[in-house]
Amino acid sequence: MKKHILVIPGDGIGPEVTAWGKAVLEQVGKTFGHEFTFDEALMGHVAIEATGDPLPDETLEKARKSDAILFGAVGHAKYDNDPSAKVRPEQGLLKIRKELGLYANLRPIMLFDELLQASSIKPEILQGTDILFFRELTGDVYFGEKTRSEDRQTASDLMIYHRYEVERIAHKAYQAAQQRSKRLCSVDKANVLESSRLWRETVQEIAKQYPDVQTEHMFIDNAAMQLIKNPKQFDVVLTANLFGDILTDEASQIAGSMGMLASASVGESTGFYEPIHGSAHDIAGQNKANPLASILSVALILEIGFGLIEESKAVVALVDRALKEGYRTGDIADSNSDKNKILGTAEMGKLVLGYLESKQ
Ligand code: NAD
Ligand code: IPM
Ligand code: MN
Repeated sequence: MKKHILVIPGDGIGPEVTAWGKAVLEQVGKTFGHEFTFDEALMGHVAIEATGDPLPDETLEKARKSDAILFGAVGHAKYDNDPSAKVRPEQGLLKIRKELGLYANLRPIMLFDELLQASSIKPEILQGTDILFFRELTGDVYFGEKTRSEDRQTASDLMIYHRYEVERIAHKAYQAAQQRSKRLCSVDKANVLESSRLWRETVQEIAKQYPDVQTEHMFIDNAAMQLIKNPKQFDVVLTANLFGDILTDEASQIAGSMGMLASASVGESTGFYEPIHGSAHDIAGQNKANPLASILSVALILEIGFGLIEESKAVVALVDRALKEGYRTGDIADSNSDKNKILGTAEMGKLVLGYLESKQ
């Protein structure tokens, strides 16, 4: 298979982890006989520094021409501490999602048995959890009108949904539920928000087209609690942009760490694959970041982007092997175990890559 991949490393730990995702994808090409070509582009703080624009036109053009995009993260402490900054790294990420029509963000909560102890949740509560989040990605309060009064004392962000936006992601989530355990939980705040009432009404309509799927509606506040109380009750979770952002960071504790969660953003064109974590200023440049979320993002490129199921499973198996052999980055280390072998970002990357190279 011939595919062209655009790599956008971004800021902070983005380049540190993406280097290993890219290396693994390159090696998958060699091992399995595919012709993968790569290009690289700027986004975020690095792009602002180089061009003044968090998403330069050149990056968008390259993105449109590629078959898949492997992204790291954007963000810089400079902007986090300066709310008045007009140009911000995150604008690049939001713009590329919108421009490419990436309305469905799939965030699988893949739980490796070896990491049961890495979570702050009790292992017996976690074991067997397998959740697939469908987070709507191009609507909601993220893209509604923003205002600030002239005296700067009042601000607003419009939380807005159109029926078609809910319909198209609901179809994707229901289709996935049909392939899984045929259970779907739609999360909203329909007891308070009008946009959530539209959401619920629309999901109820779409549900009629999937009678084999059991639908549940849950309020976001309850869902946040249920996720920790009994995560196994969830299978496919369908939710809006902001709720999905927050719930999936929470859900990363089920998988043990933010450094373990990959995601796929799909919709109208080229898919965009990235860890769910950010640029993590607190550990950037210290060889501490867990590269496994980027490597698992590559597994999603192979599965969802290219339909290469065997190759995708092989990548997940590499991660599983590293964990089974006791290798850990600091974020997933078990402080009660003396069997953990703690590695830095580069060492973990090399280890996983080495497993794959030796398969050739
Ligand atoms: P963050 O996800 O960057 O970090 C949260 C915590 O998780 C930190 O303690 C960090 O050290 C840890 N962490 C994250 N990824 C890790 C990894 N791979 N290995 C080990 N530990 C990891 O969230 P934040 O601190 O709220 O935000 C930092 C910056 O990142 C902000 O500027 C924010 O806007 C940006 N951000 C970007 C994205 C993205 O590009 N998709 C996502 C979230 C946040
Ligand atoms: C994510 C991030 C982004 C979001 C930010 C950086 C714009 O938190 O990808 O989860 O809120 O969508
Ligand atoms: Mn987020």
